[in-house]
Amino acid sequence: MNRGVCWIDERVQPLAEARVPVTDHGLLYGDGVFEGIRFYAGTPFLLEEHLQRLRNSARAISLDIPWNNESLSSIMAEVIDAFDGEDGYLRLIVTRGDGPLGIDPAPCRTPRLIVIASRLEMVDPATRTRGIRLVTAATRRLPPDGLDPRIKSLNYLNHILARIEANRAGADEAVLLNDQGRVAEGTADNLFIVRNGCLLTPPVIDGALPGITRALILKLASDMGIEAREQSLAPYDLHTADECFLTGTGAELIPVREIDGRMAKACPGPVFQRCHRAFRETIRRHCEGE
Ligand SMILES: Cc1ncc(COP(=O)(O)O)c(C=O)c1O
Repeated sequence: MNRGVCWIDERVQPLAEARVPVTDHGLLYGDGVFEGIRFYAGTPFLLEEHLQRLRNSARAISLDIPWNNESLSSIMAEVIDAFDGEDGYLRLIVTRGDGPLGIDPAPCRTPRLIVIASRLEMVDPATRTRGIRLVTAATRRLPPDGLDPRIKSLNYLNHILARIEANRAGADEAVLLNDQGRVAEGTADNLFIVRNGCLLTPPVIDGALPGITRALILKLASDMGIEAREQSLAPYDLHTADECFLTGTGAELIPVREIDGRMAKACPGPVFQRCHRAFRETIRRHCEGE
């Protein structure tokens, strides 16, 4: 079984042996940021976009990242090299580093970088083909004036609470609403619906992470002549959609079969299938170095 590898403290180790000190503020307070990046044919996919988002998240929480993009890329290359496989998932984590107990980040002088390469399958292949079951969670996405959804921080507790609700309901994934009851996103993915041939996804202001896969799908869809835009959505829009699917680095593209007990009109629907083909083609070109 492939258990993955991890770069920490300047060296690559088996993932199962990698450790962080209990004084790391990432562990004590969730004080840090991260990115999930897929690699295909040994090369990180949409790397520039991920590094830009990582740096923006870090700036937003006043965390200096002392590694430039070149160093980060060479560390990622080292980790991918040590990983047993051409395709996989990288997790870049930058924590505030070690400090005394107490919430003040000022004494944390040295950020800690962790880079993991592993496999990540959000759902098993049969469920992916059939389409997943979604439930709307009672747990809400944090309001943007509390914690801006654009910050990809180590605080995922409300997403975890939502996922626990999905597990208890026997569903595959949860949808989080924002404090106004508008649809925000999944626990680790963005959500799209199709209505009258038009592709719609909630705006960031409603609590969606500005997903990199989401941006790619919006672009691929418009390139194919499919009308695609951000639009605020209510649960009603999910329940009456022609199609629904999720996007994310971990998720890639996953069709949704059922939402809160309502069956989607088509799964996988025609718009999903076109977007999925275009997505695979983009990955194929990435692998060919185009
Ligand atoms: C909360 C949340 N929303 C959406 C996404 C999807 O974003 P991306 O496509 O950039 O992976 C993620 C994935 O990291 C996420 O954690």
